[in-house]
Amino acid sequence: MSIPSAKATSDNNSNTLALPQRTEPNRLTSVIVASIVVCAISVSFALFSRGSIASLFRTAPSIVSATVVSSPLNTAATSVATPVMTDSKFSDRTPVYFFSHGGPTFMYSDKDQENGGDLGAFNTLRRIGKEITEKVKPKAVVVFSAHWQSSRDTIEVNTAEKTDLIYDFYGFPSFMYEEKFPNVGSIHVASKVIERLQAAGIKAKGVKRGLDHGVWVPFKVAFPDSNALKVPVVQVSLFKTEDPNQHIALGKALASLRDENILIIGSGMTVHNLREMGHYWGSVAPYAKKFDDMVEKALNGTGEDREKALASIIRTPEANKSHPTKEHLLPVYIAAGAAYNEKGDLLYTNQISSLGWGEYRFGAVPVTGT
Ligand SMILES: *[C@@H]1O[C@H](CO)[C@@H](O)[C@H](O)[C@H]1NC(C)=O
Ligand SMILES: *[C@@H]1O[C@H](CO)[C@@H](O)[C@H](O)[C@H]1NC(C)=O
Repeated sequence: MSIPSAKATSDNNSNTLALPQRTEPNRLTSVIVASIVVCAISVSFALFSRGSIASLFRTAPSIVSATVVSSPLNTAATSVATPVMTDSKFSDRTPVYFFSHGGPTFMYSDKDQENGGDLGAFNTLRRIGKEITEKVKPKAVVVFSAHWQSSRDTIEVNTAEKTDLIYDFYGFPSFMYEEKFPNVGSIHVASKVIERLQAAGIKAKGVKRGLDHGVWVPFKVAFPDSNALKVPVVQVSLFKTEDPNQHIALGKALASLRDENILIIGSGMTVHNLREMGHYWGSVAPYAKKFDDMVEKALNGTGEDREKALASIIRTPEANKSHPTKEHLLPVYIAAGAAYNEKGDLLYTNQISSLGWGEYRFGAVPVTGT
């Protein structure tokens, strides 16, 4: 059987899945072959999660040719140890993060970055994970993923103490459905979340649910066995709307959890247009860079000004192209709401085809030992 390889190609203009051959199979190219086969015989694209479609498209030759536009964490050899407090307005509040999480094969980016991942984003999340376990040392994590939208007006909160993983992607080989991410929930933290939401006039209810791949895939990257996150993880849904202010308000309602050293993370993508990935194979969609920059600029502000900027950029043609549906963008809004008075620092981004990989931290990392 011939094994395709994105690396071995020289055909930069190809817009098809006709890949060249090489003799040395590896696990991930086998994943992709299996996915393509499944894709080819499938009559229903509805069977495929967005992530898996993305990773299929991302097997295209030379797809990883985008430039890294900003990577402060990468350029600093001791980035994790670099103090980030630059002014006297020190905040005791736990920082907030936004993770761009790619597709499910993102977790293998260190082994095969050309098939469904981004090595820079992977390395950045690895470093952020260490920053979290070694410096932030949260009591618990409250996380929002693009892959859980509840309803128009009621937020759902996972109250299960024992949370299984949800393998919400299709057509991948069996070993990916055996991946583990050890975790526990917390009824105590979940109740707190529900109370704070209700106090802010947001309808909320508890449900029992596992973590979806928008959480456990990037968390496996940030918190591998060697850097385990030994605190409860409580996933909270998005609304099933595209309303920016509703999602900013959701984050704001939970901002006070940061005073109790509960870490808030939003997980999505800064640019996420799976429909046009094929079209932009081997290049970068013009709107991807533009919108990634617009997000960076909007997050580089605080308070009401930032809310206005965020509400405005989501209504632009660039946003429509970058996010044909907005669920991967809205976790940015939740994070910004929770961060409120602290700007978002871009730790890394990259644009590949019609995807953008912005990774952000809002607020200061505590200095160890104080
Ligand atoms: C962020 O805002 C500051 C001014 O508040 C400005 O100096 C800086 O260039 C901005 N950075 C970006 C990436 O927009
Ligand atoms: C973006 O898309 C929405 C929904 O399809 C549409 O109503 C809106 O006019 C579009 N906005 C822009 C600026 O293209």
